[in-house]
Amino acid sequence: MTGTEQADLHVGDEVEVEVGPVAHGGFCIARHEGRVVFVRHALPGERVLVRVTEARDGQRFVRADCIEVLEASEHRVPAPCPYAAPGLCGGCDFQHVRVSHQRELKATVVREQFARVAKLDVEVVVEPVAGDHDGLGWRTRVEFAVDEVGRAGLRQHRSHDVVPVDTCLIADERILATGVLRGHWDGDDAVDVVAPSQGEAVVVRVPSGEADAPTVVEHVETPSFSADFEVAARGFWQVHPGAAGTFVQTVLAMLEPREGETALDLYSGVGLFAAALGEAVGPQGKVVAVESDAGAVAAAAGNLARYPSVLAIRARVDDAFGVPRASKSGPAGRRGQRPRKLRRHPLLPLAADLVVLDPPRTGAGKDVVAQVARLSPRAIAYVACDPAALARDTSYLRDAGYELKGLRAFDAFPMTHHVECVALFER
Ligand SMILES: C[S@@+](CC[C@H](N)C(=O)[O-])C[C@H]1O[C@@H](n2cnc3c(N)ncnc32)[C@H](O)[C@@H]1O
Repeated sequence: MTGTEQADLHVGDEVEVEVGPVAHGGFCIARHEGRVVFVRHALPGERVLVRVTEARDGQRFVRADCIEVLEASEHRVPAPCPYAAPGLCGGCDFQHVRVSHQRELKATVVREQFARVAKLDVEVVVEPVAGDHDGLGWRTRVEFAVDEVGRAGLRQHRSHDVVPVDTCLIADERILATGVLRGHWDGDDAVDVVAPSQGEAVVVRVPSGEADAPTVVEHVETPSFSADFEVAARGFWQVHPGAAGTFVQTVLAMLEPREGETALDLYSGVGLFAAALGEAVGPQGKVVAVESDAGAVAAAAGNLARYPSVLAIRARVDDAFGVPRASKSGPAGRRGQRPRKLRRHPLLPLAADLVVLDPPRTGAGKDVVAQVARLSPRAIAYVACDPAALARDTSYLRDAGYELKGLRAFDAFPMTHHVECVALFER
């Protein structure tokens, strides 16, 4: 034991633990003689033998893998993938869990984040996205890493080490059919394979030059909206084939856009929500899409050309609102740089009826949320891939006078710990 009455654990130590609740990040929490142990490959309620994989000086917890199950949970199943095991691929966290229970674990994590971070009790059920059956074969975009002898593989958990694989069971079968896992990729950092909604998969060697950076077309079909979107093969698009349609349908159902309204689509990518909003508000309405990635904005210009009310702006959302950039180095930017002039983008409206926020994992942040509230929208739809960031931004929205009026969660990444939430806020 250490001076603080905690077990002194080191990498490689093996101890028996009783597994406690699931936590955000694909592991469960256990304790060994006062020391917190984050355990992968286990389930709440199990008794397991773990091997410590990470123990850092000054850290109150260690990380460990379950290497033997002594008392199994009723929700445990044999992992379908041979690489979903300690020391192997780090991509999937929950292959050893029945898919329906994976969703219950994710719902627990969402509830826990809202309770702890936003001080809100929420009811949430994690739903499958359209077309998902058994949680396998869904991934339409996979970036395979390349090892030092040119084999394609996947990375170990919390490591740069590459595990060569001969299959990936969550990948769309068209990705495997390219033969990417039998190829030799000497000189490449990675191989990106994309299976768009229609047609053959596309293989992109990374790094790739502009000239050989292909685009793909993704089709979205919902009961109320259908459209094609051109996307750079390495650009952002939802990886589950049912996700984009599910999220558009959910956002439209929550916001109920009306003809003639003004809407903002923030972090708009190639224009998925902007197009759906553009169609709904019609030519008398107005939609402004804001996105920082030049390639995505260029694609959005083409994708949105048929909606006369939609305008796509290339800017960071915080820059467009004229607020400091959310960065660790603070508002002044990197050390030695002159402070940026904060000026609101002239094409950003001063008021809006509706706002869609779909930020990266870091969330929108306090300043952007405050600016969104100042537009006085009647409804805000927040699409979030990290429930912790959503819970934090929920607090900021509540401070600004907006309440959480609806919350749905989707299993857009089966077998992994990831979960996508769509939240509705109104005054
Ligand atoms: C989760 S994706 C959503 C894209 C789009 N809404 C969709 O569903 O396809 C987040 C997008 O935000 C963009 N992005 C990241 N940081 C940004 C920022 N500070 N300002 C504007 N866009 C940003 C990324 O390039 C990416 O396209």
